[in-house]
Amino acid sequence: MTKAKEPLRVLAIESSCDESAAAVLDESRGLLAHELYSQVELHRIYGGVVPELASRDHVRRLLPLVRQALDRAGTAAAQLTGVAFTAGPGLIGALLTGAALARSLAYAWDVPAIGVHHLEGHLLAPLLEPEPPPFPHVALLVSGGHTQLIEVRGIGDYEVLGDTRDDAAGEAFDKTAKLLGLPYPGGPELARLAQSGTPGACRYPRPMLDRPGLELSFSGLKTAVLHSLRGRELTPKLRADVARGVEEAIVGTLAAKAVRALDSTGLETLVVSGGVSANQHLRATLTETVGRRGGRVYYPRLEFCTDNAAMIAMAGLARLRAGEHDSLAIQPRAQWSLETLTAVPLQPNAAAAAARLLHP
Ligand code: KG4
Ligand code: ZN
Repeated sequence: MTKAKEPLRVLAIESSCDESAAAVLDESRGLLAHELYSQVELHRIYGGVVPELASRDHVRRLLPLVRQALDRAGTAAAQLTGVAFTAGPGLIGALLTGAALARSLAYAWDVPAIGVHHLEGHLLAPLLEPEPPPFPHVALLVSGGHTQLIEVRGIGDYEVLGDTRDDAAGEAFDKTAKLLGLPYPGGPELARLAQSGTPGACRYPRPMLDRPGLELSFSGLKTAVLHSLRGRELTPKLRADVARGVEEAIVGTLAAKAVRALDSTGLETLVVSGGVSANQHLRATLTETVGRRGGRVYYPRLEFCTDNAAMIAMAGLARLRAGEHDSLAIQPRAQWSLETLTAVPLQPNAAAAAARLLHP
């Protein structure tokens, strides 16, 4: 079944939520292509992702995206040495579409298939950059569905240090944006509006900061915003000030907890990934705060902060390189803990080895 070809060249498929994506990553030549189709327009009128519509659209989009990625990468099927796909966590129907396609292609091409953890993809996205972060480091994973602080000792060696008790940071952005009448997905829209808001004009609570530990909570923010708007006319100035206040509360909380995680682990390197890591205010605040204490922050480039297949290719390649592959049965998982993953041995320096995957 395994074709012993060197170097590895992997096709990756992402379909965990509302982005259909395909990418081709070559171990010695780097990222050869990455294609993405966002379903944002499809879901906008519903104010959020409709799972059944997402699955149906993935079925329509994925195969053309795969063809396009292979064309752009100048890659024939016979040159591929493996297929990676997002196996979870995510919307189960959406995951199934990508998993079924990826598994079938790998079977037809007689190459191994590997199911990738979506959040491991986000964690490893910064390894696609010319200057990848060293291991071990602390990762702040902030997406629409997850908000976690993780000690990353190596690829697959993760310890969740703190998690949100309720809403994810991206969810908090999206929900408050909705209250301000902004279209879905609200995060980037709210961030744009916040630029014209007055700093400090609206101040919202930063929950859990007064307590020790690395737990987070964002569900109170929506209620606080609702409360602050009660009985007031929603003028353009008030909307911008509220947006600014919300962004400051979320960014302030995340920055304080990230620094606390660096303190508690004694590490100096912070990696920030997931959709919310595209937020410029968050990036500037973290770079400043961590830089002041002599540490360094690493981010994926903007297009690899939000969902994409390049990061799935990165994680899949590392696992295929370590000799892992899945059986013929596909087992997508809506829920999947990062801590159950197996460590991929990259010795002696995991970061340098991972970087060599891309930058020989
Ligand atoms: O990682 P991602 O693309 O999908 C998930 O796996 O969840 O993250 C999407 C989330 C959404 O909540 C979106 O509003 C948020 O990331 N987001 C932002 C920004 N860009 C995306 N939030 C704040 N500011 C941004 N610039
Ligand atoms: Zn994601």
